[in-house]
Amino acid sequence: QELKLNLEQIEKGGYDHFMMKEIYEQPSAIMDTYRGRMLPNEGIIRMAGVDDNIERLANAKRIIVVACGTSWHAGLVSEYIFEDLARIPVEVEYASEFRYRNPVIYENDVVIAISQSGETADTMAAIKLAKEKGAFVFGVCNVVGSSISRETHAGAYTHAGPEIGVASTKAFTTQITVLTLIALKLAKYKGTISDSEFRFHLQELERIPAKISQVLEKNEQVKEIAFTYKDAPNCLYLGRGYNFPVALEGALKLKEISYIHAEGYPAAEMKHGPIALIDEQMPVVVIATNKGHYDKVVSNIQEIKSRSGKIIGIVTEGDEAVKELADYVIEVPETIESLTPLLTTIPLQLLSYHIAVMLGKNVDQPRNLAKSVTVE
Ligand code: AGP
Repeated sequence: QELKLNLEQIEKGGYDHFMMKEIYEQPSAIMDTYRGRMLPNEGIIRMAGVDDNIERLANAKRIIVVACGTSWHAGLVSEYIFEDLARIPVEVEYASEFRYRNPVIYENDVVIAISQSGETADTMAAIKLAKEKGAFVFGVCNVVGSSISRETHAGAYTHAGPEIGVASTKAFTTQITVLTLIALKLAKYKGTISDSEFRFHLQELERIPAKISQVLEKNEQVKEIAFTYKDAPNCLYLGRGYNFPVALEGALKLKEISYIHAEGYPAAEMKHGPIALIDEQMPVVVIATNKGHYDKVVSNIQEIKSRSGKIIGIVTEGDEAVKELADYVIEVPETIESLTPLLTTIPLQLLSYHIAVMLGKNVDQPRNLAKSVTVE
């Protein structure tokens, strides 16, 4: 028994849970994911699955993303990136909905299937349907040789390493990394961004692992916030633009490991109903980095404050306005708007982890959940 315990401790790299180990592995996982693919000095992205199919991908009239759960959230981030940078229309579909609704699929559609395990039944079924209708299917998986990676016409692996914790963390950030590389490569090929913009994005992406390490240094501060809000019955997560999917992902993390009900919303959506929920019992996590309609988010925060909501702001280092209004702020380093999700998601992962641990939950294997949903 003693040996088994020690072996498990070694497997967890000294962390109390696989989830925490995997949260802290994200800087290296992202580096492993872009290493050999992204050459900032030469201004090149090299990805065989993309290079070999560049015409098919760049000329796509539409990209349809099919995925589930956290992978679906990564797909939602990619919608902002692909449309903003490569000017390709993107639809992000829950695989389980897509497969049953007799969707319209054209032969010049490109379907991107995102799956950490590469075994999710609904995602696999969506891929088969898309192939039957003649679409080109590109996979983003984390498990080499998984069923989905073998079913797709081409693909790119995230090099996150095995993700043991049921709650996905490093898979999410490495999926965004791969999708960002693909979008940048297509944008460069199509000329929808200049060479200098392209190189600037690569240089910024190369700085992300160190910036994530800086955010991880806020762990103790996040732990204090977790202690304050661990008994909240509900929680709201708000974000705009690139950070709207991060709000959804933060809410999912809290739900699935602490069993606290949480919802993510576009920040501006509050006035269309959800603001009725706000009272002093309701912690509201607001992603308010200084890019993309920052002033609008600040006014959303003011609306919440005037209804005595409790506010946890995820802000850019040096922020003053939100600090004035919020009960707590967690600072993340500055970066370009399209890369903010890689930083803003980190405090949300830590927050849900600490709350779940304080509540005595089984963080790595939450109740009712499986790491890969191979059943329908
Ligand atoms: C995320 O934390 C969950 N574990 C779950 O939503 C997961 O993202 C979903 O089941 C999809 O899994 P996949 O990426 O392996 O297809």
